[in-house]
Amino acid sequence: MRELFELEQLGGVVGERAAAMRPEVAAMPWGSLEAGAHTPEAVEAARRAWSSAAFQEFRTGAACAATLQALFEARAPLDLIAVASRFPLDEVVHVELCARLAAELGGGAPIAYDPEAMVERFVDREPLARAAHLVVANFCVGEALSIPLLHATWKAATHPLVKAVLRRVVVDEADHGTFGWTFLDWALPHLDAAERRALGETAGRYVASVRETWSDLRRRPQAPRDEAYALGWLGTEEYLELAGRSLASQVVAPLEARGLWL
Ligand SMILES: [Fe+2]
Ligand SMILES: [Fe+2]
Repeated sequence: MRELFELEQLGGVVGERAAAMRPEVAAMPWGSLEAGAHTPEAVEAARRAWSSAAFQEFRTGAACAATLQALFEARAPLDLIAVASRFPLDEVVHVELCARLAAELGGGAPIAYDPEAMVERFVDREPLARAAHLVVANFCVGEALSIPLLHATWKAATHPLVKAVLRRVVVDEADHGTFGWTFLDWALPHLDAAERRALGETAGRYVASVRETWSDLRRRPQAPRDEAYALGWLGTEEYLELAGRSLASQVVAPLEARGLWL
C-alpha cells in the first residue's frame, strides 16, 4: 500500500497546545530563508533533502512509539520508560521543523511510502526481546550514528534559521543516542545467548542498510559546498568520511563491547 507523505495541522486550540509544548519552535526566524539567494539547483536539492529529512523524522517517530509500547509490554524500569516517552514528541517536532524548511524552499517534494511498513515490529518475539531488537535497530544503530552527523551539520550551517533547526534536533537527539546503550545495559542480563546472537544479527542487518544508503549518496549529484552549508548539508565526501568514522566509534565499538557485533 503506497501513500503520498503529506502532513496537516489541525490548528485552533490543539495547535496552540501543541505549540506551547515546544515554544522554541515559534521563536525561530521563520520566513528568513531566501530561496532567490541560491542557485535553483541548490534550492531544489535542499528542498528534496529537507522533505526526505521530514519523512525520516516521521518514520523515526513511529519507531520511537513502537519501542515505547514494547517497553511497557516488557515492564521496563519506569524511569527508562519515562525518558523514552518524550522521544515521539521530539520526533514530531523534528518533522515539523524539516517540513517547514522545505516549505520555505518552495514546498515539500513528493514522497510515496507504505504506512504499515515504516517500522519493523519483531512481532514473533517476547516483549523484552522485541523491545531490545527495536532499540538496537532504531537507537543503537540509527540514532547513535545520526548524532555526530547532525552535530557536524549544525556546526557547518551558516543560515540562522537552518542553524536554529539543526541545534534543536541535535539537543534532542543527544538523549536518544545514549538511551539505546542504557537500555541494553539493563536488558542484556535478562536475555539468553541465542537472543543476544539474534540481536547481533539485527544490528548487522541495520548497519548494512545504512551502508547501502551511503552508496546511493555517492551516486547523487553534489551541490557546491558553500551552498550545501547555507542550506543545511555537509559536502558528500565530508559527510561520508565522518559517517564512516562515526559508525566505527559510535555504533560498532559499543556493540562490540556488549558482545553484539558478530
Ligand atoms: Fe529526530
Ligand atoms: Fe531521534
